[in-house]
Amino acid sequence: MAYGIKIEDLSFSYTAGNPVLKSVSLDIYPGEKIGIIGPSGAGKSTLLLHLNGILSGKGTVKIGDIKVEKKSLPEIRRLVGLVFQNPDDQLFNPTVGEDVAFGPLNFGYSREDAAARVRQALGEMNLYGFENADSHHLSLGERKRVALATVLATSPGVIAFDEPFSSLDSVMVVQLLGIIGRLDATLVIVSQSLLPLLSCCDRLAVLAGGEIRACGTKDEVLRNEELLREGGVDIDFYREAFKKFLK
Ligand SMILES: Nc1ncnc2c1ncn2[C@@H]1O[C@H](COP(=O)(O)OP(=O)(O)OP(=O)(O)O)[C@@H](O)[C@H]1O
Ligand SMILES: [Mg+2]
Repeated sequence: MAYGIKIEDLSFSYTAGNPVLKSVSLDIYPGEKIGIIGPSGAGKSTLLLHLNGILSGKGTVKIGDIKVEKKSLPEIRRLVGLVFQNPDDQLFNPTVGEDVAFGPLNFGYSREDAAARVRQALGEMNLYGFENADSHHLSLGERKRVALATVLATSPGVIAFDEPFSSLDSVMVVQLLGIIGRLDATLVIVSQSLLPLLSCCDRLAVLAGGEIRACGTKDEVLRNEELLREGGVDIDFYREAFKKFLK
Protein backbone atom coordinates (compact mmCIF):
# COMPACT_ATOMS: atom_id res chain seq x y z
CA MET A 1 0.00 0.00 0.00
CA ALA A 2 1.26 3.47 -0.88
CA TYR A 3 1.11 6.29 1.68
CA GLY A 4 1.06 10.04 1.26
CA ILE A 5 3.79 12.19 2.80
CA LYS A 6 3.15 15.56 4.39
CA ILE A 7 6.12 17.70 5.33
CA GLU A 8 5.19 20.88 7.14
CA ASP A 9 7.41 23.78 8.08
CA LEU A 10 10.46 21.56 8.58
CA SER A 11 13.68 23.23 9.65
CA PHE A 12 16.93 21.54 10.61
CA SER A 13 20.52 22.49 11.47
CA TYR A 14 23.48 20.17 12.02
CA THR A 15 25.26 22.98 13.87
CA ALA A 16 23.63 25.89 15.68
CA GLY A 17 23.20 28.97 13.49
CA ASN A 18 23.67 27.07 10.19
CA PRO A 19 20.21 26.04 9.01
CA VAL A 20 20.32 23.35 6.30
CA LEU A 21 16.53 23.02 5.88
CA LYS A 22 14.49 26.21 6.18
CA SER A 23 10.77 25.83 6.67
CA VAL A 24 10.35 23.12 4.07
CA SER A 25 6.76 22.13 3.23
CA LEU A 26 5.84 19.49 0.67
CA ASP A 27 2.75 17.38 0.06
CA ILE A 28 3.33 14.11 -1.74
CA TYR A 29 0.31 12.09 -2.80
CA PRO A 30 -0.07 8.35 -2.18
CA GLY A 31 1.53 6.46 -5.06
CA GLU A 32 3.12 9.55 -6.55
CA LYS A 33 6.64 9.50 -8.00
CA ILE A 34 8.21 12.83 -7.17
CA GLY A 35 11.71 13.96 -8.12
CA ILE A 36 13.79 16.41 -6.13
CA ILE A 37 16.58 18.33 -7.81
CA GLY A 38 18.96 20.83 -6.30
CA PRO A 39 22.63 21.72 -6.35
CA SER A 40 25.20 19.92 -4.22
CA GLY A 41 24.83 20.92 -0.57
CA ALA A 42 21.20 22.07 -1.05
CA GLY A 43 19.96 19.75 1.72
CA LYS A 44 18.44 16.96 -0.41
CA SER A 45 19.95 14.06 1.53
CA THR A 46 19.22 15.85 4.79
CA LEU A 47 15.55 16.11 3.78
CA LEU A 48 15.30 12.40 2.90
CA LEU A 49 16.83 11.43 6.24
CA HIS A 50 13.80 13.05 7.91
CA LEU A 51 11.34 10.75 6.13
CA ASN A 52 12.18 7.77 8.31
CA GLY A 53 13.28 9.64 11.39
CA ILE A 54 17.05 9.20 11.10
CA LEU A 55 17.11 12.97 11.57
CA SER A 56 14.43 14.99 13.25
CA GLY A 57 14.10 18.73 12.90
CA LYS A 58 11.58 21.38 13.91
CA GLY A 59 8.23 20.98 12.16
CA THR A 60 6.33 17.85 11.21
CA VAL A 61 6.68 14.95 8.83
CA LYS A 62 3.76 12.56 8.42
CA ILE A 63 3.63 9.27 6.55
CA GLY A 64 -0.06 8.63 5.94
CA ASP A 65 -1.59 9.58 9.28
CA ILE A 66 1.48 8.70 11.31
CA LYS A 67 3.71 11.45 12.59
CA VAL A 68 7.42 10.66 12.39
CA GLU A 69 8.55 10.82 16.01
CA LYS A 70 10.45 8.70 18.49
CA LYS A 71 7.51 6.56 19.52
CA SER A 72 6.41 5.80 15.96
CA LEU A 73 9.88 4.90 14.65
CA PRO A 74 9.45 1.09 14.58
CA GLU A 75 6.31 1.49 12.44
CA ILE A 76 7.82 4.25 10.31
CA ARG A 77 10.92 2.15 9.54
CA ARG A 78 8.63 -0.57 8.18
CA LEU A 79 6.70 1.86 6.00
CA VAL A 80 9.59 3.89 4.65
CA GLY A 81 12.58 2.35 2.90
CA LEU A 82 15.52 4.65 2.35
CA VAL A 83 18.24 3.93 -0.21
CA PHE A 84 21.23 5.91 0.98
CA GLN A 85 23.33 8.01 -1.37
CA ASN A 86 26.43 6.10 -0.26
CA PRO A 87 25.89 2.32 -0.33
CA ASP A 88 28.48 1.85 2.42
CA ASP A 89 25.98 3.47 4.81
CA GLN A 90 23.49 0.71 3.92
CA LEU A 91 25.60 -2.44 3.93
CA PHE A 92 26.93 -3.87 7.18
CA ASN A 93 26.65 -7.67 6.98
CA PRO A 94 29.44 -10.05 5.94
CA THR A 95 27.73 -11.14 2.71
CA VAL A 96 25.40 -9.68 0.09
CA GLY A 97 22.77 -12.35 0.85
CA GLU A 98 22.73 -11.46 4.55
CA ASP A 99 22.51 -7.75 3.81
CA VAL A 100 19.48 -8.25 1.56
CA ALA A 101 17.84 -10.78 3.93
CA PHE A 102 18.27 -8.50 6.93
CA GLY A 103 15.17 -6.36 6.29
CA PRO A 104 12.73 -9.19 5.47
CA LEU A 105 13.92 -11.28 8.48
CA ASN A 106 13.74 -8.24 10.74
CA PHE A 107 10.15 -7.63 9.58
CA GLY A 108 9.17 -11.18 10.53
CA TYR A 109 9.19 -13.04 7.21
CA SER A 110 9.98 -16.75 7.47
CA ARG A 111 13.43 -17.93 6.33
CA GLU A 112 11.87 -19.34 3.12
CA ASP A 113 9.95 -16.14 2.33
CA ALA A 114 13.01 -14.03 3.11
CA ALA A 115 15.15 -16.24 0.84
CA ALA A 116 12.61 -15.85 -1.98
CA ARG A 117 12.66 -12.06 -1.52
CA VAL A 118 16.45 -12.04 -1.58
CA ARG A 119 16.50 -14.05 -4.82
CA GLN A 120 13.97 -11.76 -6.46
CA ALA A 121 15.63 -8.50 -5.35
CA LEU A 122 19.10 -9.70 -6.39
CA GLY A 123 17.68 -10.87 -9.72
CA GLU A 124 16.11 -7.47 -10.35
CA MET A 125 19.46 -5.81 -9.72
CA ASN A 126 21.36 -8.22 -12.03
CA LEU A 127 23.16 -9.72 -9.06
CA TYR A 128 22.58 -13.43 -9.66
CA GLY A 129 25.32 -15.44 -7.99
CA PHE A 130 26.40 -12.61 -5.67
CA GLU A 131 24.68 -13.99 -2.56
CA ASN A 132 27.86 -15.18 -0.86
CA ALA A 133 30.04 -12.29 -1.99
CA ASP A 134 31.49 -9.87 0.54
CA SER A 135 29.84 -6.48 -0.16
CA HIS A 136 33.04 -4.67 0.70
CA HIS A 137 34.91 -6.34 -2.14
CA LEU A 138 32.40 -5.26 -4.78
CA SER A 139 32.72 -2.30 -7.14
CA LEU A 140 30.87 0.90 -6.26
CA GLY A 141 28.18 0.23 -8.90
CA GLU A 142 27.70 -3.31 -7.57
CA ARG A 143 27.44 -2.07 -3.98
CA LYS A 144 24.91 0.52 -5.16
CA ARG A 145 22.81 -2.29 -6.66
CA VAL A 146 23.03 -4.34 -3.44
CA ALA A 147 21.88 -1.26 -1.48
CA LEU A 148 18.88 -0.90 -3.83
CA ALA A 149 18.13 -4.63 -3.42
CA THR A 150 18.09 -4.37 0.40
CA VAL A 151 15.21 -1.92 0.17
CA LEU A 152 13.31 -3.57 -2.70
CA ALA A 153 13.36 -6.83 -0.71
CA THR A 154 11.10 -5.34 1.97
CA SER A 155 8.49 -3.81 -0.44
CA PRO A 156 7.92 -0.66 1.63
CA GLY A 157 4.93 1.61 0.93
CA VAL A 158 7.26 4.61 0.63
CA ILE A 159 10.72 4.50 -0.89
CA ALA A 160 13.14 7.41 -0.74
CA PHE A 161 15.94 7.02 -3.27
CA ASP A 162 19.02 9.21 -2.80
CA GLU A 163 20.84 9.41 -6.15
CA PRO A 164 19.75 5.94 -7.29
CA PHE A 165 21.21 6.32 -10.80
CA SER A 166 24.72 7.36 -9.82
CA SER A 167 27.45 4.77 -10.51
CA LEU A 168 25.08 2.60 -12.55
CA ASP A 169 25.87 1.80 -16.17
CA SER A 170 23.23 2.82 -18.71
CA VAL A 171 21.81 -0.71 -19.08
CA MET A 172 21.27 -0.84 -15.33
CA VAL A 173 19.75 2.67 -15.33
CA VAL A 174 17.17 1.54 -17.88
CA GLN A 175 16.48 -1.63 -15.88
CA LEU A 176 16.06 0.40 -12.68
CA LEU A 177 13.67 2.77 -14.48
CA GLY A 178 11.58 -0.30 -15.42
CA ILE A 179 11.53 -1.46 -11.79
CA ILE A 180 10.64 2.04 -10.56
CA GLY A 181 7.81 2.18 -13.11
CA ARG A 182 6.34 -1.06 -11.75
CA LEU A 183 6.57 -0.18 -8.04
CA ASP A 184 3.25 0.83 -6.56
CA ALA A 185 4.89 2.58 -3.60
CA THR A 186 5.10 6.33 -3.12
CA LEU A 187 8.54 7.30 -4.42
CA VAL A 188 10.70 10.28 -3.57
CA ILE A 189 13.72 10.35 -5.84
CA VAL A 190 16.60 12.75 -5.33
CA SER A 191 18.82 12.83 -8.37
CA GLN A 192 21.16 15.03 -10.32
CA SER A 193 20.75 12.69 -13.31
CA LEU A 194 18.10 14.79 -15.00
CA LEU A 195 17.14 12.50 -17.88
CA PRO A 196 16.39 9.32 -15.88
CA LEU A 197 14.63 11.45 -13.28
CA LEU A 198 12.39 13.03 -15.91
CA SER A 199 11.55 9.64 -17.32
CA CYS A 200 10.25 8.27 -14.01
CA CYS A 201 8.71 11.20 -12.11
CA ASP A 202 5.32 12.87 -12.26
CA ARG A 203 6.31 16.06 -10.45
CA LEU A 204 9.57 17.81 -9.69
CA ALA A 205 10.51 19.86 -6.66
CA VAL A 206 13.48 22.22 -6.65
CA LEU A 207 15.41 22.47 -3.39
CA ALA A 208 18.05 25.18 -3.18
CA GLY A 209 19.69 26.71 -0.14
CA GLY A 210 17.53 24.53 2.11
CA GLU A 211 14.27 25.90 0.67
CA ILE A 212 11.71 24.46 -1.71
CA ARG A 213 11.85 27.01 -4.52
CA ALA A 214 9.18 25.35 -6.61
CA CYS A 215 7.18 22.19 -7.04
CA GLY A 216 5.19 21.44 -10.15
CA THR A 217 4.70 19.12 -13.06
CA LYS A 218 7.96 18.30 -14.83
CA ASP A 219 6.76 20.39 -17.80
CA GLU A 220 6.27 23.43 -15.58
CA VAL A 221 9.72 23.09 -14.03
CA LEU A 222 11.48 22.27 -17.31
CA ARG A 223 10.09 25.35 -19.02
CA ASN A 224 11.50 27.63 -16.32
CA GLU A 225 15.20 27.88 -17.09
CA GLU A 226 15.90 30.19 -14.18
CA LEU A 227 14.38 27.64 -11.82
CA LEU A 228 16.40 24.84 -13.39
CA ARG A 229 19.59 26.80 -12.90
CA GLU A 230 18.66 27.30 -9.25
CA GLY A 231 18.18 23.55 -9.09
CA GLY A 232 21.74 23.02 -10.28
CA VAL A 233 20.76 22.10 -13.85
CA ASP A 234 22.57 23.87 -16.68
CA ILE A 235 20.02 23.41 -19.42
CA ASP A 236 22.31 25.09 -22.01
CA PHE A 237 24.75 22.25 -21.52
CA TYR A 238 22.09 19.68 -22.47
CA ARG A 239 20.92 21.81 -25.39
CA GLU A 240 24.43 22.22 -26.80
CA ALA A 241 25.34 18.57 -26.23
CA PHE A 242 22.22 17.36 -28.04
CA LYS A 243 22.82 19.81 -30.92
CA LYS A 244 26.43 18.73 -31.33
CA PHE A 245 26.26 15.00 -30.84
CA LEU A 246 22.72 13.85 -31.50
CA LYS A 247 21.93 15.16 -34.95
N1 LIG B 1 26.53 15.17 9.39
C1 LIG B 1 26.69 16.45 9.03
N2 LIG B 1 27.23 17.35 9.89
C2 LIG B 1 27.37 18.65 9.55
N3 LIG B 1 27.00 19.15 8.36
C3 LIG B 1 26.47 18.32 7.47
C4 LIG B 1 26.29 16.92 7.76
N4 LIG B 1 25.72 16.34 6.68
C5 LIG B 1 25.57 17.32 5.77
N5 LIG B 1 26.01 18.50 6.24
C6 LIG B 1 25.96 19.80 5.52
O1 LIG B 1 24.58 20.09 5.23
C7 LIG B 1 24.44 20.66 3.94
C8 LIG B 1 23.44 19.84 3.13
O2 LIG B 1 24.01 18.54 2.94
P1 LIG B 1 23.25 17.42 2.13
O3 LIG B 1 24.10 16.21 2.20
O4 LIG B 1 21.85 17.31 2.62
O5 LIG B 1 23.25 18.05 0.66
P2 LIG B 1 22.79 17.41 -0.72
O6 LIG B 1 21.83 18.35 -1.34
O7 LIG B 1 22.35 16.01 -0.50
O8 LIG B 1 24.17 17.45 -1.55
P3 LIG B 1 24.75 16.39 -2.64
O9 LIG B 1 24.04 16.68 -3.94
O10 LIG B 1 26.21 16.77 -2.74
O11 LIG B 1 24.54 15.00 -2.14
C9 LIG B 1 25.85 20.71 3.33
O12 LIG B 1 26.33 22.02 3.47
C10 LIG B 1 26.64 19.72 4.17
O13 LIG B 1 27.98 20.11 4.25
MG1 LIG C 1 23.05 14.19 -1.08
